[in-house]
Amino acid sequence: MQFAKRHILDMASLSADEIAFILDTAETMREISERPIKKVPTLRGKTIVLFFYEPSTRTRTSFDIAAKRLSADSISISASSSSIVKGETLIDTARNLEAMKPDVIVIRHSSSGAPHMLADMVNTSIINAGDGMHAHPSQALLDLMTVRRRKGNLDGLRIAIVGDITHSRVARSNIIGFTKMGAHVALAGPPTMIPKGIESFGASVTYNVDDAVRDADVIMMLRIQKERQKSFLFSTEREYAKEYGLTKQRLEKSKPDVLIMHPGPVNRGVEISPEVADSSFSIILDQVTNGVALRMALFYLLSGGARNADDN
Ligand code: CP
Repeated sequence: MQFAKRHILDMASLSADEIAFILDTAETMREISERPIKKVPTLRGKTIVLFFYEPSTRTRTSFDIAAKRLSADSISISASSSSIVKGETLIDTARNLEAMKPDVIVIRHSSSGAPHMLADMVNTSIINAGDGMHAHPSQALLDLMTVRRRKGNLDGLRIAIVGDITHSRVARSNIIGFTKMGAHVALAGPPTMIPKGIESFGASVTYNVDDAVRDADVIMMLRIQKERQKSFLFSTEREYAKEYGLTKQRLEKSKPDVLIMHPGPVNRGVEISPEVADSSFSIILDQVTNGVALRMALFYLLSGGARNADDN
């Protein structure tokens, strides 16, 4: 297959075939991280800028490691250490970065649509590493990869996504990704944290977490994003944990081969209890491991790797 995309902006603009091709490519990358010397020369001479306007542990480190494992040069910039603090706009910043001829810019931004705007205004490939409440496509792709590795395929699976759906770009990207690949997504959480009309994304909604957990092959728990909430949407963390958190007691009512996921960062004892997060059902750290391979695949494909392979 020819991979013709120039940017990775959201899951809506990827077809099911393109998603499957990215996951297949990521599978071939995974083994590189198991080698004693975890580096191949594939992207030698390529330059990747990691531009993060919001905090990140997993995504930024994972993109950085992915670039280095493929021998690309990666440069990491945060808003606080850039000339943004002197008043430079996003677009001026991007144009100045582009003038230094990077091959890919990875951007995380608090404003929904910021990566799309950059993709329209610069000639460099853009990867969206999370924009506001809108999209986090590399997270959804690594989540799809992780479930596909464990379950064999995605078609027909029941995925429960539980928690603060309203503020979650991970939820939106995963709803689109899983439904495109034939899975059914059920959303659960407090009514104050599930946006009206979300069913139009192809998911069902319940306010009863026990219902969602009982039927699920995969349960994805989400953090309450207090930093994006403009008003109090729940009473206390203790009450939230009781009503909506994934506890050992709740997990006992689920399928015996259920998988537990979380994109991180985890608030232990709030949306998920420590014993569930660390249980044998949890694949949270698999998600992180697969994130490196998945992001290696994105760099490879955007740099023309599939086209070059077809030419050989
Ligand atoms: N999953 C995720 O986006 O984590 P970080 O915010 O640490 O990158």
